[in-house]
Amino acid sequence: MNDTIDVNSPAKWEADYARGTDGWDLGGPTPAFLRLLSAQQQGRARFRPGRLLVPGAGRGHDAREFARHGFQVTAVDFSPYAVQEMRRLATPDAPLEILESDVFALPRALDGAFDYVLDYTCFCAIDPRRRGEYAGRVARWLKVGGVYIHLGFPLDAHAGGPPFAASAGEILNLFTQQGLRLLEREVPFDSVPQRRGLEELFVFARCVFVAA
Ligand SMILES: C[S@@+](CC[C@H](N)C(=O)[O-])C[C@H]1O[C@@H](n2cnc3c(N)ncnc32)[C@H](O)[C@@H]1O
Repeated sequence: MNDTIDVNSPAKWEADYARGTDGWDLGGPTPAFLRLLSAQQQGRARFRPGRLLVPGAGRGHDAREFARHGFQVTAVDFSPYAVQEMRRLATPDAPLEILESDVFALPRALDGAFDYVLDYTCFCAIDPRRRGEYAGRVARWLKVGGVYIHLGFPLDAHAGGPPFAASAGEILNLFTQQGLRLLEREVPFDSVPQRRGLEELFVFARCVFVAA
């Protein structure tokens, strides 16, 4: 299967949604993100509400959860089906700005616009040859001091994909090379069972310098 080419096109993802081979969809928000957000509600805020970009948002479960907690969320996906689903599942208490776009084609007007970028299973869906380019985009989308929350999956060494594997070292290298500084990392204890032991949460902040 020539997925390293196919994944660059919405058609591959449309086909997965249409066939029901969208097993990445957890049907609701990601437990580790719910935990981060509940800490915020209990006054132990790690992330105060701000403008948040969710690339490759799929049906938007995580995007809506952050919106419900007061974040101003822009959710991006290039699959028309995913976008239609985000619109269908929208609720008044979780307003989203929904963009149907390739993440690599977002307008330069969005550079420096975000306090946060939230990535869960977008990075592993991207053609691995485009990871450096993707890391550069993440850095560009963030304000100086903005935070990149990356729940890495799958951190193993299997061949092929999607999901395409990465090591923690590769993720750290890619994003620090783009001017992001690691603030914290943790192995979530609350990964869903099928992903347990394959995930790590990385939190980076954008430093002053970002390559153009
Ligand atoms: C593995 S799914 C993950 C969806 C969602 N993050 C989740 O956890 O349910 C990857 C999603 O990213 C989208 N996607 C992949 N490459 C993309 C790109 N270059 N631009 C925009 N969306 C992309 C796909 O359409 C798909 O909805």
